[in-house]
Amino acid sequence: MAKRKASGAKPKPLRRRARVPASGPAQKLRGMLFGAIQAQALGVAAELRIPDLLRDGPTGLYQLATATHTDPMALERMMRLLVQMGIVAESRPGKFICTATGKHLQAESPSSLRNYTRLTNLEMVLHVVARLGRSLHTAESQFTALHGKGFYESLPNLPAEAAIFNGAMQEISEQDIIDMRDAYDFSRCRCVVDVGGGQGHLLAALLDDYPGLNGVLLDVPAVIAGAGAILHDHVAGGRCRVVGGDFLQSVPAGGDLYLLKRVLSHCTEEQARTLLTNIRSVIAPKGRLVLADPDPASLYGASFDVLMLVLLGGGLRTGKQLKELFAAAGFAYKRTVGTSGELQLIEASPA
Ligand SMILES: C[S@@+](CC[C@H](N)C(=O)[O-])C[C@H]1O[C@@H](n2cnc3c(N)ncnc32)[C@H](O)[C@@H]1O
Repeated sequence: MAKRKASGAKPKPLRRRARVPASGPAQKLRGMLFGAIQAQALGVAAELRIPDLLRDGPTGLYQLATATHTDPMALERMMRLLVQMGIVAESRPGKFICTATGKHLQAESPSSLRNYTRLTNLEMVLHVVARLGRSLHTAESQFTALHGKGFYESLPNLPAEAAIFNGAMQEISEQDIIDMRDAYDFSRCRCVVDVGGGQGHLLAALLDDYPGLNGVLLDVPAVIAGAGAILHDHVAGGRCRVVGGDFLQSVPAGGDLYLLKRVLSHCTEEQARTLLTNIRSVIAPKGRLVLADPDPASLYGASFDVLMLVLLGGGLRTGKQLKELFAAAGFAYKRTVGTSGELQLIEASPA
């Protein structure tokens, strides 16, 4: 009291903090703050094949540590996080089993997302994610800013990452194919051109389904090198062509259905306009263009969209943006077809 009088200054009161309830908005925010470390734990678990090692039932911590060449005490801490995330469960103290969610990280699961998980947690991807703030100012790819060339241009020189990328595309495609087959009637098509079609999983499935259909796969040479095994029978039977090329230069002619599955969202505005203009110059007059991309109005779609921004300078487009893009390339929007999965299909035709 005497001291205060001497200095004349009043002590600063402590800022009053509200008591944070065990659940509620603040707790929700705290959970989200650690999203990056949780995603990384998934990536490491997938990389070390931990869910695969739990395939045969309860497995001890030391056995897991030996199999993964990790420090048991450090591994135990990550296992505790994976328990909290619902990826594994501790069936008895020190013994772990895989949950139904964790099984999607097993390599042999029919609905595996192991490679997709590894892809989104690659160091080179996480580096660009950490630079999101910069992309907000430039609207450009941080991958290109860091490496001087784009992600797709760089992949052929990164064989380990390219293998993970191709594996991830196959995993996603398997689910997409089921969803697209259910949602869209391909029976009216004569020749489908899958532009940026990866290694041809979607095209092979469509050719299997529709014996009267022909198809063309276009992708960069390094990717189509892996298409032989998938499309072999259809190529040998004369129903399919595989073309290695650059869709920003040209697109194969002769199709009445041009498919862009998870491709336009990977393009910058300039690339998207060039690609659609190239398709417009070769599509049959009564042909159809079908885009298949996630719905931006979902948590997955919005997260994917921001990843596309930092990684590629691309992203999902709203209905209005798509209509403007279509008009600039000579297409007219027709309709949107929902699927039971992540994708929505946007159909357009020559204007
Ligand atoms: C996200 S992947 C989608 C693959 C496939 N459509 C799918 O959904 O599984 C994008 C594909 O576009 C291809 N791509 C990117 N730029 C390309 C270009 N300029 N010319 C041809 N293909 C390209 C990539 O090699 C990759 O296979």
